[in-house]
Order: sequence, then C-alpha cells, then structure tokens
Amino acid sequence: MTTPRLTVIGTGYLGATHAICMAVLGFEVLGVDVDEQKIARLAAGEVPFFEPGLPELLTKALESGRLRFTTSFAEAAEFGDVHFICVGTPQQKGSHAADMTYVDASVTALARHLTRKALVVGKSTVPVGTAARLTALVKEIAPAADEVELAWNPEFLREGFAVEDTMKPDRLVFGVASGWAEERLRAAFEPVLAQGVPVKVTDLATAELVKVAANSFLATKISYINAMAEVCEATGADVSDLAEALAFDTRIGGRFLRPGLGFGGGCLPKDIRAFMARAEELGVGQAVGFLREIDGINQRRRARTVDLVTELAGGDVAGKKVAALGAAFKPDSDDIRDAPALDVAGTLHRMGAEVTVFDPAAMENAKRVHPELAYGESALDAARDADVVVLLTEWTEFRAIDPAAMAAVVAGKSIVDGRHALDPAAWRAAGWEYRALGRP
Ligand SMILES: NC(=O)c1ccc[n+]([C@@H]2O[C@H](COP(=O)([O-])OP(=O)(O)OC[C@H]3O[C@@H](n4cnc5c(N)ncnc54)[C@H](O)[C@@H]3O)[C@@H](O)[C@H]2O)c1
Repeated sequence: MTTPRLTVIGTGYLGATHAICMAVLGFEVLGVDVDEQKIARLAAGEVPFFEPGLPELLTKALESGRLRFTTSFAEAAEFGDVHFICVGTPQQKGSHAADMTYVDASVTALARHLTRKALVVGKSTVPVGTAARLTALVKEIAPAADEVELAWNPEFLREGFAVEDTMKPDRLVFGVASGWAEERLRAAFEPVLAQGVPVKVTDLATAELVKVAANSFLATKISYINAMAEVCEATGADVSDLAEALAFDTRIGGRFLRPGLGFGGGCLPKDIRAFMARAEELGVGQAVGFLREIDGINQRRRARTVDLVTELAGGDVAGKKVAALGAAFKPDSDDIRDAPALDVAGTLHRMGAEVTVFDPAAMENAKRVHPELAYGESALDAARDADVVVLLTEWTEFRAIDPAAMAAVVAGKSIVDGRHALDPAAWRAAGWEYRALGRP
C-alpha cells in the first residue's frame, strides 16, 4: 500500500482542517482554493477562522514541510494521488436546493489537468446522485479519462471540535465504485484507521445519503424537544426537567436533546432543505416531508425568543436597549452562517430596539454582515444600560457571568436565556427576572 499524496480542494472550515490534520498525521498535502487571500493567510501560518487547536497544528504542519498551499489546479493535479473536494454547497437563492456551482467548478478545473490515474474524493455535503454525475463529467473531460475514479467520503466534523473529529472521528464512510478506490481511501486514512476508527464501506449513493440522513436525524432531535417546549409553554410545564427525564432513557439519550433557540449554521438548515428538494426530484418528497415541520419548529423558536424579549421589554421593544450575548451559530466557532443569534438580534433591531451584540469570536464576521447593529467590547459592556439582556449563544464565558456584576450595569434586570445555559435560581436570587423558552 503506497502512501498517497493528498490535495484538499476548498480550504474553508472543512478543507483547511482536513488539510492541516492530514499533514500532521504524516501525509504530504497540498491545499487548493480560488480565494487567493485565504491561501496566502494559510501559507503564512494564519487560520482564517476560529477553531480551537487548529492554529497550533497549522504551525506544526508548515514546519514539517509536508503542507503547502496553492491556487493552481495544474499543480494540484500534478502533485496529488487522492484529491479531496471540500468546497461549499450553500442553499441556492430562491430555492431549497443545494447550489452545486462550486463543486462542479472545482471538479471541472481539476479534471482538465488529470493526466494520470487518480482518485477524486468528494467530502462536501451533496444531493444523492452527485458522485455518479461527476463520474461521467470527469471521464469526459480528464485527459486520463477512465483512469480517474470518483469516491465519496462524507464529513461529520463539528465546528469547535473539528480537530478531534478529524483526527479521531466516530466513524469513516467510504462510498466507492471499486476495490482500488477502497484501497486508496484506506491508504489515505491509514493513521486514522490504525486507531481503531470504524469504517463503513458502501456504494456512492449510500455514502452521500449517510450525511444528510445523519443531519436530518440531529435536526429532528433538536426540533423534537423544542416542539415539547412549545407544549410546555402552553401548560406551565418545564421543558428542561422534561428533557432531563427523557435523557435517562438510554434508548433516547440526552445529546442534542437540549431545548432552546434551535439550530443554525452552514450545515443543518441547508442540508435538510436540500434533502427535501432532492427527495422531491426523486419522487419521494413525501418520505421526508416531516423535515418541513422540523424546519418550521426551528424557525418558530427564533420568533418566540423575540416575543420573550418583547414581553420583558413591556410589550414593545421600540426605543428599548437590548444586550445580545452571542452572534456565532454555536459556541467555540466564529461561523455566523444562518446564525439564530444574529437572526434574533436583527429582528429586534428592525422592531426598533437598540441592540448591542457581544460575541467572544464572531465579532468581525457579525459586523461585516450586520453593520446596523451596535457592538460591545465584552458581555458587561454590551449590557451597559440594557433594559433586557438576551443570551443567544451558549459560550462558556456567558455561563460564568456573575448575575450580581451584570445587575450593577444594566437599566433593567431582565434576562432571556435563549440557550438554557444559566442557573435560573442564581439569577433570580440576584434580583433578575429570568425567562427561558419552555420554562415557567
Ligand atoms: N463546516 C462544517 O462544519 C462542515 C461539516 C461537515 C460538512 N461540511 C460540508 O463541507 C462543505 C464545505 O463547507 P465549509 O463549511 O468548509 O465551507 P466554506 O465556505 O468555509 O469553505 C468553502 C471553500 O471552498 C472554496 N471554493 C469555492 N469555489 C472553489 C473552487 N472552484 N475551487 C476551489 N475552492 C473553491 C471557497 O473559497 C472556500 O474557501 C459543504 O458542503 C458543507 O456542507 C461542512
């Protein structure tokens, strides 16, 4: 089994992490992107986004001499034996379907230069059937034609835990069309497999589906407990206690059963929508029709959080000062794609509130997309003179806020805990009116 040289095409959250970790694990890796600035920053040792542990590993990988970056597809084709496609697949404007422009463009650009036997491995999250379509495309345009094969290796990493999820994932999935492709993938993950990480080898379509099926399941679990929160709100019951009681059942388990503001980010929302769109195309839309409801429940949590803030502001937020704690779609990330936090902050601003945001990592991203909002230097700074404080992303430093210290700077001691992250008793004891979705 010869050790393959790897290229990683698309060096965003997924690709940069994959490229850096693979180099640290001992592979020769070339990272490729069309974004020259991103490539220059990575080559200079700077990770262009927030991910714990990754900057240190980038330094280590660059020092090893095994990791380089380029914008040249010709260089990539010349260098690599296994090419990982890690470009974005965002939601199309005006449709639920995935935008495949970047996948098609990157595979086309690479294939044009493939003059010898190589494996192209999709990692991006794509509609089922993409690998089969790309196989035909690559065979048509690559000079090496039938020598080039496609495989799919969906990625399950979580932002905030991206390094550990890449170095030691729960499982690997290899979608392959031949024994040769499987052997190449086993070689490309040899140090990961050597740790005993389970691998499921399957066909291309199943591998593509594993990813959207997993994300649909996770989204369903989150929206399930949030649906229970809606019922709790109508009955005076407490969804936190309900969730804890459910979690003791080992068939259910407590992970992803945390009520609150719901899911966002660059994956779950667009993945379940793209899955619905693809299922419709395939004539099996009904089978995943429930995902529409999952999406709807999730969106209602954002509206309900705005309602709670409005209630605490005395029925109208116009002219009221609101401190929004959090902007990233989840803690330990600076990713603000479809972030519930900024959705809520933006809505409150449109309703006339003076919103001041603070986030430990996502300030620059948030300012770029929401220049209309005000920004604080810290949680306490954002809360200065606030009539209502709303916690929107459950960063550890927000959990650790001293209710008395925050009470000393606000105008009104009212807090909405959008993530069930705080201890209600401690906040109430410090004189706060504490409200959370689904809790009395
Ligand atoms: N971010 C995650 O946590 C995560 C986890 C699992 C799967 N995924 C999936 O991985 C894919 C990438 O997600 P991401 O979050 O890294 O996106 P991203 O937007 O952070 O990165 C995409 C990168 O691709 C580059 N790119 C675009 N067109 C290109 C081209 N033609 N050639 C080369 N590079 C090109 C962009 O410049 C960008 O750097 C998506 O399909 C996503 O659903 C992401």
